Amino acid sequence: MSRQGLFDAYRVSQVRVENDRTRTLVFESPLPESYPGQYVMAWLPGIGEKPFSISGNDPLALTVADVGPVSHALSLVRPGERVWMRGPLGKGYELISQSHLLVGGGYGAAPLSLLARQARTIGHSVTVVLGAKTRDDLMMVAAFEELGCAIYLTTEDGSAGVRGLVTDVIEQACMEQHQGCIYACGPTGMLTAVGKAAQLLELPAQLSFEALIRCGVGLCGSCELPEDLCLTLGISPGFLVCHDGPVARVN
Ligand SMILES: Cc1cc2nc3c(=O)[nH]c(=O)nc-3n(C[C@H](O)[C@H](O)[C@H](O)COP(=O)(O)OP(=O)(O)OC[C@H]3O[C@@H](n4cnc5c(N)ncnc54)[C@H](O)[C@@H]3O)c2cc1C
Ligand code: FES
Repeated sequence: MSRQGLFDAYRVSQVRVENDRTRTLVFESPLPESYPGQYVMAWLPGIGEKPFSISGNDPLALTVADVGPVSHALSLVRPGERVWMRGPLGKGYELISQSHLLVGGGYGAAPLSLLARQARTIGHSVTVVLGAKTRDDLMMVAAFEELGCAIYLTTEDGSAGVRGLVTDVIEQACMEQHQGCIYACGPTGMLTAVGKAAQLLELPAQLSFEALIRCGVGLCGSCELPEDLCLTLGISPGFLVCHDGPVARVN
């Protein structure tokens, strides 16, 4: 944890291009006492502060999709430059069986890559379903392959893997690979569909949500999950993404 919630400066050692709009910033030092699914508040003075899931913790790595002011400025950071970090924050994933199904949409693959590394290091079996709009938008496929994960791909235009959405292959992946728990990260619509699929398959699921994070410490209420979403997935109403999550456990 950074000192009393203060920011610590981390120097970038390497920038990896993941796809057209996504870069992974690898820093020189580790983020102590952090685990997959947790996030940091990353701050660039004069520009702003936003939450980013950790995609590596030793050394620290963040995977950033360039969609707006803060993420754009982070995408332009080069080796040798510094980013200020507060964290690790929030509650992440917890491995609860010996065989795992990881489901990632877009840059949701990033925190799951750290979870896959943790699971493979202790000899667990990992199956990964990755979805994106097109083949060029898919991320980290080679990294999951190198870890020895079984991989299923889906693209909306059919340019790689199955044409469709990640939820179209979850049942098949579960039947073929005998999963104990589903872990997912991606847009809210995808997470809702994955949560419902898990309910039908009677499997526990851990879903990493995004929300508007301001204080990051459970005080302002801006990151509360909508009540109808909580009711649909069986999450306790009033769930604060910054403090109770970002990972919510369902089933
Ligand atoms: C717990 C948590 C973890 C997160 N982890 C990551 C991460 O690992 N990597 C990452 O890139 N971002 C992550 N985010 C999102 C990140 O915090 C910012 O919201 C995002 O970078 C946009 O911030 P911005 O200031 O650049 O643009 P903003 O001004 O906030 O957004 C610019 C515009 O882009 C839209 N937008 C926001 N996100 C997306 C998106 N994904 N795709 C398309 N349009 C979008 C907004 O609606 C807005 O219209 C995470 C958020 C949370 C809550
Ligand atoms: S961001 Fe303030 S309560 Fe979550």
